[in-house]
Amino acid sequence: MKIIICKDYEEMSKEAAKIFSDRIKNKKDIILGLATGSTPIGMYENLVKENKEGKLDFSNVRSFNLDEYLGISEDNDQSYHYFMNDNLFSKVNIKKENTHFPCLDENEDGSHYDKEIEEAGGIDIQVLGIGRNGHIAFNEPAEELNVNTGKINLTQSTIEANSRFFESEDQVPVSAVSMGMGSIMKAKELVILASGKEKADAVKYLIKGDKVSTDCPVSFALLHPNATLIVDEDAAK
Ligand code: GLP
Repeated sequence: MKIIICKDYEEMSKEAAKIFSDRIKNKKDIILGLATGSTPIGMYENLVKENKEGKLDFSNVRSFNLDEYLGISEDNDQSYHYFMNDNLFSKVNIKKENTHFPCLDENEDGSHYDKEIEEAGGIDIQVLGIGRNGHIAFNEPAEELNVNTGKINLTQSTIEANSRFFESEDQVPVSAVSMGMGSIMKAKELVILASGKEKADAVKYLIKGDKVSTDCPVSFALLHPNATLIVDEDAAK
């Protein structure tokens, strides 16, 4: 795994945006794997800026998001649909029909999303944030992790962490649909971002680099052949 340690959040965001911008310029019909959370917001801001300056074209870009809450509507301002529109999609020239989010079918199965990704040609580059407990997308630490896209019951620690975005903790959804570990690992390139000391425990796994554990799902990225970790000094501590 390639590791880049940046001074702060701004520098981390710029580094990540540089990689994404470069890949988009080199492959017009690129397929992006996108993430929510506060971590990638700065990267999206840099990409929006480049698009506004006429240097980055999203007209043929396609995207697949990692996850979405269950039990809240797409227009709820805490939904990941809303987040993506607000932070990226409405600000660049990406076509709405080229953006995708996971959902469950009538049997509560989400693996049709993995087929859709595969039929599209597979994700070229995937950005990942890290949950405080080491989760990626909504793959929570557990004895077993999902391979494919499916339903996830959120852990108490994630509900608490994500309650900062809601009026109260009881409004935080208790379940979500998330790409599985297999879905994520199939991306041709991973870019993992972490900022702040709350992420230091999970980042330690990646920097030590000698063990993977289902207790820290992001550690599986150590098995990926083309992964880059970009962290700020607090997360690297
Ligand atoms: C949520 C998302 C994850 C994200 C994590 C970290 O739980 N499902 O994809 O990585 O939050 O969020 P933040 O970047 O705000 O720390």
